[in-house]
Amino acid sequence: MALAHFRSVTDLTPAQIAETLELAHDVKVNPGKYRTALAGQTLAMIFQKKSTRTRVSFEVGMYQLGGHALFLSSADIQIGRGETIADTSRVISRYCQGIMARVYGHEVIEELAQFATVPVINGLSDLEHPCQTLCDAQTLVEQWSPKGTFDVGVLKGKTLVYVGDGNNMAHSLLDTGAALGMNVTIVAPLGYWPDPKIVDRAQALGAQTGARIAVTGDVNLGVMGADCIYTDVWASMGQESEQQKRLKDFHGFMVDAGMMARANTGCVFMHCLPAHRGEEVSAEVCDSPVSIIFDQAENRLHIQKAIMLRLMAKS
Ligand code: CP
Ligand code: NVA
Repeated sequence: MALAHFRSVTDLTPAQIAETLELAHDVKVNPGKYRTALAGQTLAMIFQKKSTRTRVSFEVGMYQLGGHALFLSSADIQIGRGETIADTSRVISRYCQGIMARVYGHEVIEELAQFATVPVINGLSDLEHPCQTLCDAQTLVEQWSPKGTFDVGVLKGKTLVYVGDGNNMAHSLLDTGAALGMNVTIVAPLGYWPDPKIVDRAQALGAQTGARIAVTGDVNLGVMGADCIYTDVWASMGQESEQQKRLKDFHGFMVDAGMMARANTGCVFMHCLPAHRGEEVSAEVCDSPVSIIFDQAENRLHIQKAIMLRLMAKS
């Protein structure tokens, strides 16, 4: 079934998320099958913020599917001079078959989707980063499936512990774990906990899928039982002025070898990147054999292709 938009992980049912992960795996293993799947189509990519992985993976992914991608910095299009989001969305819909946007306020994604007549993909907002966490789920399925297989069911009963800011990454990891039956614990200092509305919705969905969803400020207890420890920067894009305060407030929350040692045997380390070694993660852990950060980064390409196929392919 074609999907309307991908603004949030919650735009997909658990079954649709599993199907998207399976498609991403097939795209990865059999790229030739999809070489003309989006021939003649163009994706507009609006960026209010910087990006390496999201921009490159969408642009390369679109090329590999036979289509074309347009990079539109918000500073260089008329949004930067006050043209409304609604008009921009209506106009781009007349030229392009999809819109991917990286924005500050999540309401910009919602407004783009409201006025677009083509699918809108959230390439990160202050509230959510859903493309990243589907790619993370794909990476963990690969990690934990028996060799030569790809079984989304392996996530059930596993535990991902996210240590750091209760930000867009924390929110989308909560939604993703809840949908797939994977326990998610957010470990964050007081004042940096995730949005309670998102915690509540993840708990409600987790109650149906068997995922335990928790938030704690206790690092030592929080990481016990972790099969995966995940972190992200302490100051996200747009929070640069808070950097010094956050360095102090997050003292004791760096993922280091001592923290990894308190987790389950075989625990892997994940980070959406970009990473600041020596802040949210030690260089020792970030560059260790248990770190799967570059598998994650690679899978951005495969998952973006799967998302675009599900939203934009004609058949
Ligand atoms: N992880 C991620 O979204 O990376 P970029 O900011 O480089 O796109
Ligand atoms: N939380 C980070 C994620 C970057 C991919 C940010 O929003 O800057």
